Amino acid sequence: MKKQKIQTPPQYLVFGADGMLGTDIALSLGGQCQPIIGPQFRVKNPGDHVIDITDKEAVISTIAQYKPKVVINCAAYTDVDASEQNAAHAYLVNGTAVGYIADGCNRAGAKLVHISTDYIFAGDQARPYREDDHAGPLGVYGKSKLAGELSAHLAKDHLIVRTAWLFGRSGKNFVSTILKRTDETDVISVVDDQRGSPTYTVDLTDAIVRLLGKNASGIFHVTNSGSCTWCEYAQAVLDKAGIKDVKIMPITTAESNRPAPRPAYSVLDCSKYQETTSHQMRSWRDALRDFLTSTR
Ligand SMILES: NC(=O)c1ccc[n+]([C@@H]2O[C@H](COP(=O)([O-])OP(=O)(O)OC[C@H]3O[C@@H](n4cnc5c(N)ncnc54)[C@H](OP(=O)(O)O)[C@@H]3O)[C@@H](O)[C@H]2O)c1
Repeated sequence: MKKQKIQTPPQYLVFGADGMLGTDIALSLGGQCQPIIGPQFRVKNPGDHVIDITDKEAVISTIAQYKPKVVINCAAYTDVDASEQNAAHAYLVNGTAVGYIADGCNRAGAKLVHISTDYIFAGDQARPYREDDHAGPLGVYGKSKLAGELSAHLAKDHLIVRTAWLFGRSGKNFVSTILKRTDETDVISVVDDQRGSPTYTVDLTDAIVRLLGKNASGIFHVTNSGSCTWCEYAQAVLDKAGIKDVKIMPITTAESNRPAPRPAYSVLDCSKYQETTSHQMRSWRDALRDFLTSTR
């Protein structure tokens, strides 16, 4: 009699696996992971599984189909400025749809890992934000992401990872924007009155895997260590890329005239992560150097 091949279900299912963070997470989890890509993505492989997370039935049936132990939600509407105009869409993707994923996780007995943001804070503190500090998002994006955290709490077993100022290989980000601008101009104006912690998606992926290894649940802050203003960050990009003929000009948030308000100070206190994993995230400057070395 012919032996029947037993299919092992993937341990992990990743929504938003074509985004900047999702790509690195799916890559790192390799064969143990079933990537689910977003609706705008051009399907590269016939086997690509495309889901719009705002489709409740599709979300629930996909989780039931793969029966993963862990669902990692990297899907989000991440355009901070456009969210001001498209508030309903931001709340649907970043808030309501997270509830659909939580529902699917509960039905399948899976843990939900959800990614959130420093923009849920108002930015009026003088010390790094801890997990239990009061949230007070300023703009629609931050408010919709806070709604997503509340939805993620509906999952019986949930891990919410708040992070900040991401850069990585697979998406448009501040580093790629600054480097592109150096081809177009000699002077780049950059905001110098907002402080945060740039974070490399590769390092964040490693941190999430460490938290899963400890079976951590609840809210955790995870960023690379150290902090800077966007202006200092831009200067570091030029320095590490060896670009000397372009100047960074500091400007204020008011002068930048962006549609969405942003926190002036959104440094996250990552000591809960350090205590739980016995691991300290490296500095954002070291992470940036590695990123630029690997991509240029
Ligand atoms: N980037 C940052 O600086 C930053 C900072 C703090 C926290 N975060 C959080 O980190 C997470 C990952 O961010 P990222 O920078 O990797 O984002 P990203 O590159 O914009 O990726 C987001 C992904 O979500 C997918 N997506 C959007 N709408 C969807 C929908 N309706 N259904 C299914 N998929 C959908 C997109 O796919 P399509 O393009 O195909 O729609 C894309 O693959 C997000 O939760 C974000 O809020 C990001």
